[in-house]
Amino acid sequence: MKNLNILLLGSGGRECAIAWKLASSPRCEHLYIAPGNPGTATYGTNLPVKPMDFEAVERAVRDNNVDIVVVGNEDPLVGGIYDVLTAKGITVFGPSRAAAALEGSKDFAKEFMARHSIPTAAHLTVTADTVAEGDRFLASLQAPYVLKADGLAAGKGVLIINDLEQAQKSSREMLAGQFGAASARVVIEEFLSGIECSVFVITDGNSGYRILPVAKDYKRVGEGDTGLNTGGMGAVSPVPFADDTFMAKVEERIIRPTIDGLRAEGLVYRGFIFLGLINVGGEPKVIEYNVRMGDPETEVVMPRLTSDLVDLIEAAAAGNLGDVPAQHSEQAAATVIAVSGGYPESYPKGKAITGNLQPSQSHIFHAGTAMDAAGQLVTAGGRVLAVTSMADTLQEAVNKSYTSLAEIHFDGMYYRRDIGKDVLK
Ligand code: AMP
Ligand code: GLY
Repeated sequence: MKNLNILLLGSGGRECAIAWKLASSPRCEHLYIAPGNPGTATYGTNLPVKPMDFEAVERAVRDNNVDIVVVGNEDPLVGGIYDVLTAKGITVFGPSRAAAALEGSKDFAKEFMARHSIPTAAHLTVTADTVAEGDRFLASLQAPYVLKADGLAAGKGVLIINDLEQAQKSSREMLAGQFGAASARVVIEEFLSGIECSVFVITDGNSGYRILPVAKDYKRVGEGDTGLNTGGMGAVSPVPFADDTFMAKVEERIIRPTIDGLRAEGLVYRGFIFLGLINVGGEPKVIEYNVRMGDPETEVVMPRLTSDLVDLIEAAAAGNLGDVPAQHSEQAAATVIAVSGGYPESYPKGKAITGNLQPSQSHIFHAGTAMDAAGQLVTAGGRVLAVTSMADTLQEAVNKSYTSLAEIHFDGMYYRRDIGKDVLK
């Protein structure tokens, strides 16, 4: 088989981990990352191309003889990059625009699940014209109340509200443009109580799929899951409660109906599927679909994947996973995210990052970092570094990451000290 020139789109910790994994493959001829970050530059060549500029992406493909484009983040997928590039004869690993609506429209995702009897929270979608129906639906539910902007809202479009009148008021504020066009439709949901996990699947768009290691992320900024929601403060894999019994239910009730439903509806999908699940008394239900890998989950999933990711992506993008394996290590992985002080609200940038960035016991994936004019690594985002470690037990893996973090410094650096604690109890 021919080795591949690969172009990976994105610039976060997720893309740094995917770049690391792709570059480790003997099948990877050359890796390009657009736009990438200082971490991805150590695994390939960063290109100054914006993922949303599809013409620039196409030029980068032609100029560098790229064989396959791997899309890291959701915006280009929801924007139709698969369709645009595929029409020009370029191979893309990712869902088509129509299929990417599973993430791009929460109403579409809920209706898809209803059509295929996939377990999820009861819901009603409302617009400005049907807000009164929304009031009645809210009154029929128990508190707390879940309100979601239908469209992409950079992870901020979900409100969980304890008071009925406040929820009814908030639904109007959302419909009036609180999240811009994304909340022109609002999905009202039944609140589900349980512990969440993230399940990742690679599918070839036919009947082939592989389940990747299960992970759990930590979304709140504060210890004990308190404070504001973030992109994710850490992750662990495996997830103790996602045992064989639970995963058998996930596969039978959620993964197979999803894969079969996509095919039956003609929704072309050759890419990663991210199932955000909640365990309600042992029964898995879908909280959300995403059409890409999770961040920071990828920073624990990729290190545990022992099979060749290039083989998997190539086969999936060709529409036939065949017998390409997706095996994983029995070791546990933990990642702890070092963030800028103030995140997820406003925070400074350009702070020098110093200390040991190549610790023997961990692997450091870059997220919001940049190289300044003097060649100094500096902070350039809220989530700055993902410090990943592997060990025979989750506790040891977590400990290793904290040991590594103690030797890294930047002004205002903060991280949660309780990653993994809830599942280790
Ligand atoms: P989403 O963007 O849909 O993943 O929602 C963000 C977060 O809100 C999820 O990770 C959950 O913690 C929470 N959430 C969303 N929907 C529900 C629900 N129906 N019941 C309980 N929590 C929810
Ligand atoms: N960690 C959750 C996400 O990537 O959406």
